[in-house]
Amino acid sequence: MDRQRISRIAHTGHPIAAPLGDDAVRQLLEHALPRGDERVLDLGCGGGEWLLRALARHPGLRAEGVDVSTESLAHARTAAAAQGVADRLVLHHADAADFRSPHPFGLVLSVGAAHAFGGLLPTLAAARQYLAPGGRVLVGDGFWDRTPSPEAVEMLGDFADLPTTLERVAGAGWTPVHGHVSSRRELDGYEWSWTGSLASWALDQPESPDRTEALAAAGAHRTEWLRVYRDSWGFVSLVLRRTDG
Ligand SMILES: C[S@@+](CC[C@H](N)C(=O)[O-])C[C@H]1O[C@@H](n2cnc3c(N)ncnc32)[C@H](O)[C@@H]1O
Repeated sequence: MDRQRISRIAHTGHPIAAPLGDDAVRQLLEHALPRGDERVLDLGCGGGEWLLRALARHPGLRAEGVDVSTESLAHARTAAAAQGVADRLVLHHADAADFRSPHPFGLVLSVGAAHAFGGLLPTLAAARQYLAPGGRVLVGDGFWDRTPSPEAVEMLGDFADLPTTLERVAGAGWTPVHGHVSSRRELDGYEWSWTGSLASWALDQPESPDRTEALAAAGAHRTEWLRVYRDSWGFVSLVLRRTDG
């Protein structure tokens, strides 16, 4: 099984592919879309869950999503058709770092995909080039809630603590106008959902040649989460405006 397929199955039971619950997603979108008729770009859109929610809530909205995962884009396309919003959604199968657009966007989203740009600040720099005057960015990324082990840094990357993360964001010319720090319940809920959805999928099909591999992947992920990063990793989502307008 390739990683894209494992990831798609693992994310079936969760609102979005990051550790946020429904209420947090709704509130972040409300702050990110003050008018409701914006053009929205999602860099690393996955299955399009953020965009689908925004499109369903705002009939005047148009959206574009960029992702390298064909599985996730197919899921987004099917879900958009089922929800009757496909005519307002354009999906690009591309590396987000290479994406170019002829028009600007009132909202640029990128949640859980900062690795595509090499970190949070490069993600914001990329988002800025697509942003219409007065536009907003909704970004979600990890931070260290406690000092991580070297193994956790090697596994998840080189994050900062939360105050330092916000200072760096401000130093790069962005002002947070809303934010959400994922709770312990959201962080744990995401990992239980990830590992549980994949394990359930495997157990539901005893004849599948992928069963053993899927069960092993779920078990390995659960062990890494509990042994390596559960006590140190956090996740913050920010709605940002340019400080200089
Ligand atoms: C953790 S998921 C988050 C998906 C979505 N933003 C969400 O919150 O539900 C990260 C996504 O980034 C995508 N991704 C990773 N590297 C990428 C790249 N270089 N260009 C575009 N997408 C990328 C993955 O395929 C995956 O769908």
